[in-house]
Amino acid sequence: MSKRMQDKVTIITGGASGIGEGMVRRFCAEGARVLLADVDTAAGEAVAAATGAHFVALDVSDPASWDALAERVRADYGRLDALLNNAGIVSGLDIEQVDLAAWDRLLSVNLTGVMLGCKMAIALMRDNARGSGGAIINTASTTSFLAIPDVAYTTSKAAVVGLTKSVAVHCATQGLNIRVNSLHPGATLTNILRTALAANPEIEPNLQRMSPMGRLGTVEEVAAMALFLASDEASFCTGGQYVVDGGTVVEHPRM
Ligand SMILES: NC(=O)c1ccc[n+]([C@@H]2O[C@H](COP(=O)([O-])OP(=O)(O)OC[C@H]3O[C@@H](n4cnc5c(N)ncnc54)[C@H](O)[C@@H]3O)[C@@H](O)[C@H]2O)c1
Repeated sequence: MSKRMQDKVTIITGGASGIGEGMVRRFCAEGARVLLADVDTAAGEAVAAATGAHFVALDVSDPASWDALAERVRADYGRLDALLNNAGIVSGLDIEQVDLAAWDRLLSVNLTGVMLGCKMAIALMRDNARGSGGAIINTASTTSFLAIPDVAYTTSKAAVVGLTKSVAVHCATQGLNIRVNSLHPGATLTNILRTALAANPEIEPNLQRMSPMGRLGTVEEVAAMALFLASDEASFCTGGQYVVDGGTVVEHPRM
């Protein structure tokens, strides 16, 4: 590895599993000092032990949880270089099934959690020694552009685009040198999906066909985009939507 994140203090939420775990592995390999922040303590500690990351318990929907993390980062690291707002949940509920509690729960994680993370990160990044600066990457989805029946999920991922653009414009116009971008994976082969496929192999062809490239993405491919956006190579990239989907969102429906 090229150590593109050498010594950069990086928080990765939802790093205990799936895409976030792939991000933790790649950022650690690239020399970052990674804080793996997740509600799943057992899985998070296991990934941290395997990668050299530091596990911190964090519920992204809880402002007090972010305050505690900010205090720890200030005390233990004295700076923050990158935040990957990656934690996310699905509800599986369409507009006829969803109730207010399920709607609020999902939005509190997938949308409010991202907003709280941005606030916390900017407060720390403003105070970085040698000047304000950093990168925030918000994991959205191709569902930001193409709807699925899960109404709260679709809404949350579309809203993350607007949130990201607003925060990016604020940071740029304030001269903070904090870049903020959204990352849009298509269907990605995670361990959870592997388990689902093993139980229901008949759904695999449909998943493969979602992309004109005829396959699912890998967590490594998504992590590579996050790495670019967090690195100094992306120095003129802010407010953008970075799709990693094998062409899913650009294909005209097939004949
Ligand atoms: N896997 C895909 O195909 C795919 C496609 C597009 C977008 N995404 C997005 O990528 C992100 C990661 O998805 P994944 O497939 O790796 O999911 P995953 O379920 O494997 O991992 C999600 C992680 O987030 C953690 N988490 C859940 N709620 C949390 C909370 N309140 N606070 C802190 N951590 C919390 C979980 O414990 C878990 O470790 C999500 O935002 C998801 O919407 C996934």
